[in-house]
Amino acid sequence: MKYLLIFFLLPFTLFAASPHAGKEEMNGIAYKDYKNFLQDWTLVTIRFRKDTGEMRMTYANKIAMETLANGKSDYKKGAALAKTGIATSPDKSFTSSIVPRFIRRYQVMVYDPQKYSKTNGWGYALFDPSGKTFPEDPIETQESCHACHTLVADDGYVFSRPFDFQGKTRFIEVGKNRKSPLRFEEVDTKGLPAALRAIVGDNKTASKLVFEILADKIFQGALDELKPILEEEAIIKKRPTFFLSKDLKRFVAVIPNDVKECAFDSGVDVHMTLLDGKVHKESVCLHD
Ligand code: HEC
Repeated sequence: MKYLLIFFLLPFTLFAASPHAGKEEMNGIAYKDYKNFLQDWTLVTIRFRKDTGEMRMTYANKIAMETLANGKSDYKKGAALAKTGIATSPDKSFTSSIVPRFIRRYQVMVYDPQKYSKTNGWGYALFDPSGKTFPEDPIETQESCHACHTLVADDGYVFSRPFDFQGKTRFIEVGKNRKSPLRFEEVDTKGLPAALRAIVGDNKTASKLVFEILADKIFQGALDELKPILEEEAIIKKRPTFFLSKDLKRFVAVIPNDVKECAFDSGVDVHMTLLDGKVHKESVCLHD
C-alpha cells in the first residue's frame, strides 16, 4: 500500500513546558558522547515511513556492528545504535523524487546489562536536532521505547538488519521469517471511554490493537509509531481501529472516511491524544 501524506503531526516542541525538556542527557546517555556517530559509526540500514514521509537512518558503533554483521543477537556491553528521523518533501523540480529536508530527532540505544537491567540491558534516549531532550518523563519514555522493542526480543531487541550498501559483504540474515506478534480484537464500542466513543461515532464495533506491555507504558512517540499499523487494519476491516493506554487516557484512533481531496480512494481520519490531553486530528489519504 502506498500512503500519501496530506498533514503531519505537530512537532513535540509545541507541548507545554516540562522539567524534562532541554536537558543534554537522558537515562545516563549524554548526547555529546554520541554526537559523532554520523562520521564514526556504520550505516546499518535506511527505512522510510510511508505515512509520515519520514526517512530513518540507523547507525551502529563497532561493538554493535560485530553482533549485527554476524547475524547474532547477543549484544556486548558498550554496543550502541543511533537512529535519525529525517523529514522529507518532493524535489520541486521533479516532484516524484523525494529529498531529505531536516532532522527531526535522534534516538540512541546503549547496551549495558547492569545499568539497564530493567529493560533487558538497553538504555534509551531521545534528542531533538540540537541535542536536547523532549518534555516527557525519561524513565517512562525508556520503558515505552523498550516495550515496543520487545517485539523483536529474539533479535536482541534490535529491529534493524544490516543492508550491504557497498555490495561487498554478505551479512547473515536473522529474523527473516519474522511474524508480527501484534493482534487486533473486535470490541463493542459501548465499553470505551467517552472521549474515544465520541470519535468512533455510531459504529457498534471497532478493532482494538492488543499490545498490553505498551499500553501500560505509553509516550507520545509510541502513539505516533503505531499509526500505520492501525491505518492498515482500519482500511482492511473498514471499521474504526484504535489503541488505548491502560489508564484509558491516551489513545490513537483511525476512522475510515471519504476525504474528498484524496486522489485515488478514501482515506482515514487519525485522532490522537497529545500530552495536554487534547485530541489532535489529521486526515490521511491511502491508496494501493
Ligand atoms: C511503537 C514502536 C516503537 C517505539 C515506541 C520505539 N521504537 Fe525504536 N524502533 C522501532 C522500529 C520499528 C524500528 C526500526 C526502524 C524504523 O522503522 O524506524 C526502531 C529502531 C530504533 C533504533 C535503531 C535500532 C533498531 O532497533 O533498529 C533505535 C536506536 C531506536 N529505535 C530507539 C528508540 C528510542 C530511544 C525509543 C523511545 C524514545 C524508541 N526507539 C521507541 C519501533 C519503536
